Parts: sequence; C-alpha cells; structure tokens
Amino acid sequence: PGGDEVNNILIEIKDGTGILTIHRPHALNALNRQTLEELKMALVELRSNEQVQVIIITGSGDKAFVAGADIREMEGMTPEEAKRFALLGDEVFTMVETTDKPVIAAVNGFALGGGCELALACDIRYAAEHARFGQPEVGLGITPGFGGTQRLPRLVGKGLGLELLLSGGTIPAEEAWRIGLVNKVVPYVLEEAEKLAQCICTKSPFAVKQTKQLVVHGLNMDMARALRFEAEGFGLCFSSGEQKEGMKAFGEKRVPSFK
Ligand code: HXC
Repeated sequence: PGGDEVNNILIEIKDGTGILTIHRPHALNALNRQTLEELKMALVELRSNEQVQVIIITGSGDKAFVAGADIREMEGMTPEEAKRFALLGDEVFTMVETTDKPVIAAVNGFALGGGCELALACDIRYAAEHARFGQPEVGLGITPGFGGTQRLPRLVGKGLGLELLLSGGTIPAEEAWRIGLVNKVVPYVLEEAEKLAQCICTKSPFAVKQTKQLVVHGLNMDMARALRFEAEGFGLCFSSGEQKEGMKAFGEKRVPSFK
C-alpha cells in the first residue's frame, strides 16, 4: 500500500485543545518509523503552541486507535535496528508522558501492542465501547518495546499486567475499565475527551501544568522527596497571577478569568 509515506499525523487545534490523529487507515494506524517521527514533530509543535492547553491523541476511523507497531516494517529488522526502533518509540512516548500539557488518549478502537503502549503513556485514557486492548507481542516472537512491560504493570498491577503480557490476549473496553487501564468507557469517545479537555482549559494553566509535573515526576521519587517536590510546586503557584485571580474570584463569588 502506497501513499502513506508522509502526513500520517493530522493536527487540529480547537478551543485550546490540540487533537493529534494517527492516520494510516489502511494499516489500522500501525506505527512505523515515519509515523513516530511525525508524532514527535507534532508534539514539539503543540508543546510550544501557546494556544494549546490540552492534547488529545486518537486514531483515524472507527476501527483502530493504533493496531501496534508496523509488523511489515519490523519483519526484516536486524537486532540493532529493532533496538533503535524501540528507543525511538520510547523517546516519543516519554515526550507524551512528560510534556507539561495534559494528554488524553481517546481510544477509538483496537489499542494493541504499540497502540496500547501509546495509550499507557498518556495521562488519561477514555475508551470507546468497542475498543480492545492487549499486548500480543509474545505471539509474534517479540516483547513489547515501547514501555509496555513497565507502564502496564505499574498501572494495573504486576499480576494483571503479566497476564496480559504473557498470554498475548486482548480484553474489551469494559474489562480494561474494571482493571483500571482506562478511566471511562463511552459511546462517543472523542467528544467525551474534548469535554474533559474543555473542563481542564477553564482551570489555571499554571496550576494544571504544575499538577501534571508533580504527579509524573513525583511518582518516580521516594515519598519524602516527592512531598517536598509538591511543596515547591505549591509555593510556585503563589508567584503566578493565577493564584491571585483564582482566590480573588472565590471571594467575589465569580468565575475566575485565567485568560
Ligand atoms: C502492520 C497492520 C497491523 C500492524 C493491522 N495491519 N495491524 N499492518 N502492522 N500492527 C494491517 C493488516 O495487515 C491489513 O492490511 C489491515 O491492517 C487491516 O487489518 P486486518 O488484519 O485485515 O483486520 P482484521 O481482520 O479486522 O483484524 C484486526 C486486528 C489485526 C485484530 C487488529 O489486524 C491484528 O491482529 N493486527 C496486529 C495486531 C498486533 O499484533 N499488534 C502488535 C504489533 S507488535 P492488508 O494490507 O492485509 O489489508 C508491536 C510492538 C511494539 O506493536 C514495540 C515495538 C518496539
């Protein structure tokens, strides 16, 4: 299948929300190197765009979010090339995880292998009712390589994580919700993600950024250090005009205007 060499990531900016759509419909939005490079560029662009406060990642069409890394591209890789491919995905997904804007995954269908791993790197996951999740890598003779062996057990626990990783089985959205892999299962997943993004956009941008940083980086620290880190972030809020506006508005019984 040709015609997909470039433009595999669509960017739409709407009311403070940047929507990134993985767009390789003929391959169920599978991630090849080109698409990962484009995703990286798109993240750099949205990160520095001051109009964008929240990022949503979704897949093109209604069948797949991302059906994995591109199996056809991986098939002929040498061990060295495969490792570089894993490191490229890690770099891009770590950008998703650590960018100071909240990132919501709107999982609109299959999220398998690298697709499940992409969703795991996001801050919040909403799933369509027909979405399915899994790490089928062991059936292909490989392990996950974009963070699945780490982020999945950290999110759902070691036992449930290993069951998915070792069986290669897939689970429906309801089950993913039951085990805490997704926050919510909804009929119209992009709309619901946009609603959440809209809600976040009404809050103090400074406080939102700080909060994400505190959670994402604090989770990698021991508790004592993480709590000090939190106190620093809390203190910093008082150097922003947004704390003054937020608290003033409370006293005046009006909605704060954070611009
Ligand atoms: C390349 C893919 C693909 C993938 C689907 N396609 N997934 N191409 N890589 N991961 C292509 C199919 O080859 C097919 O192309 C088209 O998309 C439609 O898919 P079908 O299989 O015909 O659809 P369907 O029968 O409905 O089955 C849907 C499916 C199945 C269950 C999602 O496509 C599937 O099992 N896909 C692979 C899922 C997977 O194993 N993912 C993990 C990959 S490993 P043609 O041209 O034939 O029409 C991974 C590693 C990450 O992600 C870490 C790397 C470092």
